[in-house]
Amino acid sequence: MTDTVLLESPSPVSRRYHVKSFGCQMNVYDSERMGDLLEADGMVVSDSSDDADVVVLNTCHIRERAAEKLYSDIGRLRRPRADGSRPTIVAAGCVAQAEGAEIARRAPDVDVIVGPLAYHRLPQLLRDARTARAIDTEMPDAPKFAALPPRRHQGAAAFLTVQEGCDKFCTFCVVPYTRGQETSRPLADLLAEAEALVAAGAVEITLIGQNVNAYHGGTSLAGLIARLADIDGLKRIRYTTSHPRDMSDDLIAAHTEIPKLMPYLHLPVQSGSSRILKAMNRAHTRGSYLETLDRVRAVRPDIALSGDFIVGFPGETEADFADTLSIVAEARYAAAFSFKYSVRPGTPAGTMADQVPEAVKDERLARLQAAIAAGSHAFNQDTVGRRTEILLERQGRKPGQLIGKTPWLQSAVVSVPGARIGDLIAVEITAAGPNSVDATPLQQERSAA
Ligand code: SAH
Ligand code: SF4
Ligand code: F3S
Repeated sequence: MTDTVLLESPSPVSRRYHVKSFGCQMNVYDSERMGDLLEADGMVVSDSSDDADVVVLNTCHIRERAAEKLYSDIGRLRRPRADGSRPTIVAAGCVAQAEGAEIARRAPDVDVIVGPLAYHRLPQLLRDARTARAIDTEMPDAPKFAALPPRRHQGAAAFLTVQEGCDKFCTFCVVPYTRGQETSRPLADLLAEAEALVAAGAVEITLIGQNVNAYHGGTSLAGLIARLADIDGLKRIRYTTSHPRDMSDDLIAAHTEIPKLMPYLHLPVQSGSSRILKAMNRAHTRGSYLETLDRVRAVRPDIALSGDFIVGFPGETEADFADTLSIVAEARYAAAFSFKYSVRPGTPAGTMADQVPEAVKDERLARLQAAIAAGSHAFNQDTVGRRTEILLERQGRKPGQLIGKTPWLQSAVVSVPGARIGDLIAVEITAAGPNSVDATPLQQERSAA
């Protein structure tokens, strides 16, 4: 087999694209920006890969299972449709970056392979792919952001990438290899992008980066948040993901000084055992992490904290795992995400001795998740009776129900006649479950009285 020849012929109707996003919020942002690029190039979006001329798979490499999804999707997309055609297949994202050559070998039907730092060249790569497979996994010095068209985002909540890449090299993690070294976008560009988002209707912006609190694009993350808070019409600011080592005093202070900054902090710890944290190269200990939480809670006692955990890191003993369970109780998380350690090619932990058996990982994960769920339930119960605002995000399961987000990022279920997705409404939290809270609108109460 030689390289793929495309089956479709040029047509006067606009070509349709579909982007499927895996992995983290940065991929959601990147997927949206690839859409902006393709639309600027004359294409139109399609809701389904079934009738798209170009399908972009924006992949995640963080765990083995995430990466495997790429190959199953390619297998499905390459099968000819009723009319004999198949879409142009683009493998983008972190698997493309880490395993471009492997994809080319294993999946000859992939037409374009493009990494997360090169996708601004996607329209040209699609043109190149008409003759032969196009690959671009370079990590160019010039940031891609400057080459992207204006954002076309619609909707009340938006992501804004402010920092990309990571220099921390935790021994389990592929991100430094897939996203390259830490770079921050210039302040002026971010203010312009945020203003455009707000002009188009965004009321909440979540600043994202692999180490978002390491932002240093002319000011600190706290400085950036302060500038964004000056934008009229922007009501809520969030940021994720932070590294414990970069929780600076000014960022912590921002949580009391800037009302638009929501009381929520995602601060992954990975393990409660200092011994394991050292083997992970996390550059913090159990004690220093808990001290950081104390500093945050001292200025913002109601803050909702969340974390990430890995169970079954090489060498993790039952005693280490007990430290993880106890840090969950001590930290009083509102939410937490937990994963079984997954061996990643090219990372130091992948070849460490004492890999933990899968059955042990399964059993520890179940115990950890039970502890996390109990903590979330307790956090939610503590918020019952609070009067606050929620941003309506989607329809609920029952007719008339809407789901919104509280400042603490809880899902709140509410019935508000006449309210629309994107509205920010005043509510009282009335009941709590492990995964959501119930709320009643305050206006309705008043008008009924
Ligand atoms: N930059 C963030 C997180 C990036 S990845 C941080 O430093 O915390 C998101 C989460 O995936 C991590 O917090 C970690 O819990 C998990 N993760 C990363 N590599 C993993 C691996 N090899 N196996 C299992 N989980 C992993
Ligand atoms: Fe991965 Fe560690 Fe960097 Fe987070 S800080 S992206 S876990 S290497
Ligand atoms: Fe996955 Fe890449 Fe994000 S590996 S978690 S998509 S940075």
